[in-house]
Amino acid sequence: MTDRDAHHDDASPDEDRRQSGDSWRESTVRTDGGADAAGADEAVLDPWGSSTVEDYRKLFEQFGIESFDDVLPGVPNPHYLMRRGVIFGHRDYSPVAEAMRNDDPFASLSGFMPTGDPHIGHKMVFDEIIWHQQQGADAYALIADLEAHAARELPWSEIDEHARSYVLSLLALGFDPEEGKLYRQSDDRELQDLAFELGAETNFSELQAIYDFDGETDVSHMQSVVTQMADILYPQLEEPTPTVIPVGPDQDPHMRLARDLAARMRYFGVTEAFASFEAEAVERTLLRQAYDAREKYAADPEMPRCVEAADYLRDQAPADARESVVEKLDNAGKEPIRPRTRIFDRNATEDAFEALIGAVDGEKRVYDEHIDAFDLDRAEADELAREVELDTGGYGFLPPSSVYHRFMTGLTGGKMSSSIPASHISLLDDPEDGYDKVKSATTGGRTTAEEQREKGGKADECPVYELYAYLLSGDDDEFAEEVYDECVGGERLCGGCKEQAAELMEQFLEDHQAKRAEWEDKLDELDIDLDSHRMRS
Ligand code: TRP
Ligand code: SF4
Repeated sequence: MTDRDAHHDDASPDEDRRQSGDSWRESTVRTDGGADAAGADEAVLDPWGSSTVEDYRKLFEQFGIESFDDVLPGVPNPHYLMRRGVIFGHRDYSPVAEAMRNDDPFASLSGFMPTGDPHIGHKMVFDEIIWHQQQGADAYALIADLEAHAARELPWSEIDEHARSYVLSLLALGFDPEEGKLYRQSDDRELQDLAFELGAETNFSELQAIYDFDGETDVSHMQSVVTQMADILYPQLEEPTPTVIPVGPDQDPHMRLARDLAARMRYFGVTEAFASFEAEAVERTLLRQAYDAREKYAADPEMPRCVEAADYLRDQAPADARESVVEKLDNAGKEPIRPRTRIFDRNATEDAFEALIGAVDGEKRVYDEHIDAFDLDRAEADELAREVELDTGGYGFLPPSSVYHRFMTGLTGGKMSSSIPASHISLLDDPEDGYDKVKSATTGGRTTAEEQREKGGKADECPVYELYAYLLSGDDDEFAEEVYDECVGGERLCGGCKEQAAELMEQFLEDHQAKRAEWEDKLDELDIDLDSHRMRS
């Protein structure tokens, strides 16, 4: 058994199949990163490192990325990459799906480092942005030129050339530049202002912990991180809306930081509270328990007192934070326990806090750093807090959402890498070269035709099958399924299968490049300036 076999066996136990119960779909799901067995136990997500992922399921456990299957049923007309499990994970996609269902505003944004030619891996992300745009999203695509210059040290002349090429492919695939927005990081003042503000909430230790930065990391690289944070929140500058960022899982560290920063920038937070004192989340659980049990111990159940609740909790089974909450209740003495909604000052200006006091209707109590509202539920308080924040100069950001797609396996078997031309297909490849690359690709076929007829091919381990599932079948599920079934059933032999795929690829490249050529002449009319005017290399 080779390493590759071992890896695949290990990465695709029957357990997977039980969960999804659909072997065709499951098979596409299992097609993963490649033969590198190194580091197989430890998923490492490094935005500037190698982008192989050995086992996608580990990302769920280790990083809290959620399975896309959970939200799929709530997505109207899901994209084929979603249906086939190529988009395998997400963070917080539900608000986006909900906005889509209700025809509410939402946005989608992704960015591209112009370090080389756009290839079929980028096409997935282009398609994701375009699909969201077609579902009604405000769509954004940006050229991460500051990042390319800072993190990859690319000279500006090359950046310009590649930037142009990314934009052309995006347009050729169907991005509507009238409805959506294209920009480059270096050229957008609003973006840079936002990056600066976000930088004031981010410190070095944090970047060190997330990205492994150290004393040698240059400042521009760090700046490119806050710039990406600003990219991710940029669609919300006009108005806070659910926003989805389609990316590869290597970008997840950025998403975690961006979600964190979105919360940190908020003026106010909202929690449930039971008395005037502050309590941690675990303590609140006990307070809720004590309040619900008031009939059992309160002299007047209409007005249970803190000391009474303290005595009650003291006699209950030990629990996390029981001691601390009992102490707080004791200190509060005869104060009645009353559920309320608390809006607390997180990062607000004085004016904003004043405005909030005025805006809370009904019974309220005002403290130094929070307001207790007795007639607002949490959702109402949330909305109010955001309104006041927006009225008083805050951003009111919603935490951005993300979706993650699988990386394609290289045509040569290992990872798809821009430094190995035969491993990937560039959107600029001569259609005949595209044809040839597919014809010489590694397959999941058996050693002899006879064996293949008998045992069937291993479509799950076949880069050519991946091409069908990720690209060549387009929206046609039936076709993708047919290729799969014929392969594993032994009816399909690799020679013919590759011939068909190669022809489809050649056709795709021809069409794509013709559409790029049509856009060439119209590029000047677009808002985006594709010459960076930067003198230094
Ligand atoms: N860092 C991304 C990459 O390496 C590019 C990028 C910049 C990006 N800003 C972004 C991606 C915002 C998604 C959203 O490709
Ligand atoms: Fe791959 Fe096609 Fe061969 Fe099956 S028949 S292993 S899908 S090349």
